[in-house]
Amino acid sequence: MTRRLESRSVEETFSLGERLGRVLEPGDFVGLDGQLGAGKTLFARGVASGAGVPLDDVSSPTYSIVQSYAGRLALHHADLYRLSGEVDLFATGYFDLLESEGAMLVEWVSQVKGARPDDALSIQLEVLPLDARRFSISAVGPRAAALLSRWLGPAPTGA
Ligand SMILES: Nc1ncnc2c1ncn2[C@@H]1O[C@H](COP(=O)(O)OP(=O)(O)O)[C@@H](O)[C@H]1O
Ligand SMILES: [Mg+2]
Repeated sequence: MTRRLESRSVEETFSLGERLGRVLEPGDFVGLDGQLGAGKTLFARGVASGAGVPLDDVSSPTYSIVQSYAGRLALHHADLYRLSGEVDLFATGYFDLLESEGAMLVEWVSQVKGARPDDALSIQLEVLPLDARRFSISAVGPRAAALLSRWLGPAPTGA
């Protein structure tokens, strides 16, 4: 099931991220996709802030590929935009981080086959008119389902 939300402003996107960051637990995986400028990094900054990471520490890891932050928990923030495949990703230590304590927040996760673990929360951002954004959110696996429900409440029942 995919849950959809809309954000109407920068503040709303940040605060959605912040709410997710507050309930993030070690081992959680959040993958973000969406065109350049969709708001992945803005949302990720919200998540980091909610997880207790000082905002000065958080930027876009486009060049560094992976950045690790210390907040209420360890948070690893990656951006796979510049990678062409799994081999590149191995070299960054990404798969070691997946095995480690800490939560993962990965922009452009669909760029690299194999980057998303079996249990993952996936968020697709789309740009709408008037600075709005649509979030399409799906949880695969028990851990991601639990995270989603801590974040947004239990799944709505019915059609
Ligand atoms: N509702 C919104 N949600 C997210 N970003 C927005 C929104 N409205 C405008 N923006 C702007 O869109 C840009 C998103 O940039 P960024 O988060 O770096 O995107 P990405 O990481 O997806 O490339 C920022 O300049 C931000 O100010
Ligand atoms: Mg970005």
